[in-house]
Amino acid sequence: KDIYNVGLIGFGTIGAGVVETFNRNLNLMEQKVGAKIKLKRIVDLDIETDRGVAVDKNVLSTDINDILEDPEIDIVIELIGGYEPAKTFILKAMGHGKHVVTANKALLAKHWEEILKTANDNNVRICFEASVGGGIPLLEPLNERLAANHIKSIYGIINGTANYILTKMTEEGLDFDEVLKEAQDKGYAEQDPTFDIEGHDTAQKLIILTILGFGTYVEQDKFHVEGISKIKQEDIEFIKNELGYSIKLLAISRIEDGKLEVRVHPTLISSDHLIASVNGVFNGVYLIGDIVGPVMMYGPGAGMMPTASAVVGDCLDIMENMERPNIYGPKDTEVREIKNIEDIC
Ligand code: HSE
Repeated sequence: KDIYNVGLIGFGTIGAGVVETFNRNLNLMEQKVGAKIKLKRIVDLDIETDRGVAVDKNVLSTDINDILEDPEIDIVIELIGGYEPAKTFILKAMGHGKHVVTANKALLAKHWEEILKTANDNNVRICFEASVGGGIPLLEPLNERLAANHIKSIYGIINGTANYILTKMTEEGLDFDEVLKEAQDKGYAEQDPTFDIEGHDTAQKLIILTILGFGTYVEQDKFHVEGISKIKQEDIEFIKNELGYSIKLLAISRIEDGKLEVRVHPTLISSDHLIASVNGVFNGVYLIGDIVGPVMMYGPGAGMMPTASAVVGDCLDIMENMERPNIYGPKDTEVREIKNIEDIC
């Protein structure tokens, strides 16, 4: 192929980051792929508001069929988030033979099996590096580069907003609501920030990590999820000053006694553990493989440009490896019995 055409659905914060990435680094991207690349169409309900990035007005449309029905578009990026109409658009795009890149962890966590099956039935790729850990190259390394390992455990700080709030409360003594407002202003938080604060966003991302690490799909209401909304300033001070620990919203997925244990909750972490130093909007995932030993992945977990980096990276990978099958998680994993919280506490 000498040109790849990309369609973008959703011109919000991350969508604008994708446009900016194309604006800044198109030459570099074209060199890497060895072909021309065009962001042919951007569809959003609002095509008037200035997003602060240079964009050709002729590329903008409010009609989804300008992407779904355009036979020249090879790759569809879905960045509207939420369940519908994102799911319908993704399934339709696949039905039209288009590869899909998405950051939509909520949708993947809920409809994983249907989305993967539809991709495979249509011989298209589904890529979602941006859905967990923002800009950190995390899922592809876990799925591919660590494929020679049985993963033993995954511990992640995988919500930038919650980690930003806990960090600012700890380091600057700031008030919860004030810091949440800051995280929203910076474009880190979900449209409904209770997803960040109550641990749902972390749980959705943990479902994705668990598929890749353990080959097991766990539904969200089948494991313990607790957020950070009940943590008070005085709790943080006590944990820091009296106990010498850090408090982090941790996602845990690990094998214990042959069973898979999956949970999300605030956790006290000894200050000398590497993961205790993951601060602000940064995310960190510490995992242990039976061959490699411990691995720590660290970087910006949310925000416009880091997340765009992961989205566009997926697009380039598809351009370079269009025929690659979608194989996620270890193929030989037996279905594991999930431990429930009563067994653990
Ligand atoms: N709201 C999410 C977070 C965005 O704060 O981590 C990135 O997935």
